[in-house]
Amino acid sequence: ATKTLIPGYTYGTEQVAKSPIGLEDLNKLKTTVMFTSADEEALRMAGDVLEDQVEDVLDVWYGFVADHPHLLAYFSTPDGHPIQEYLDRVRERFGQWILDTCRRPYNQEWLDYQQEIALRHTPEKKNVTDNANSVDNIPLRYVIAFIYPVTATLRPFLAKKGHSADQVEAMYQAWFKSVTMQIALWSQPYTRDGYW
Ligand code: HEM
Repeated sequence: ATKTLIPGYTYGTEQVAKSPIGLEDLNKLKTTVMFTSADEEALRMAGDVLEDQVEDVLDVWYGFVADHPHLLAYFSTPDGHPIQEYLDRVRERFGQWILDTCRRPYNQEWLDYQQEIALRHTPEKKNVTDNANSVDNIPLRYVIAFIYPVTATLRPFLAKKGHSADQVEAMYQAWFKSVTMQIALWSQPYTRDGYW
């Protein structure tokens, strides 16, 4: 079941941005990252594998951020004090995103929430959801670079539930494709009008 009552998690509500693209363009993007119905199936499997490991995954990702002051800065006040409440609140939505990536149908509602997440990394909406006193932008280069840790560190978790090497590989590749596609979508608000 989908978790509800996560503060600031507005998936499927009126308070979400509208994606600049529709399903036809999404299909072209899927084709571009070689994402097929087999990847959808592999992600469903990954959802079942990851469901009870979400907190452990988040421990790894948050540990990675905490170990790097230049990343922790985006969860901190402008003068560099980490904001624990902000970290905690975003963590809950990050956990939900893991399951959404695996289980949500990639439809217009999903596209719209992609745009919402994108904006929450930029001055348009960063800090707004949690009323955080933090810096107001995450540079696009870090968002793109984060694709690698968010993918590579997931692999051991995908392998933890006794699936075959082929199944683990399929889940891993499907995850990699989906995250690449999502970050391609999230790049839009950062780009120059008409260049995206
Ligand atoms: C918010 C994922 C890159 C810092 C979020 C959320 C998700 C997410 C799922 C919560 C969305 C929601 O509100 O429902 C990702 C992914 C990334 C990425 C998949 C790249 C592959 C980064 C980087 C940083 C960062 C590089 C810098 C440390 C944050 C912060 C928020 C956030 C501070 C809270 C934004 C707000 O004020 O609402 N991210 N993120 N993210 N992320 Fe990222």
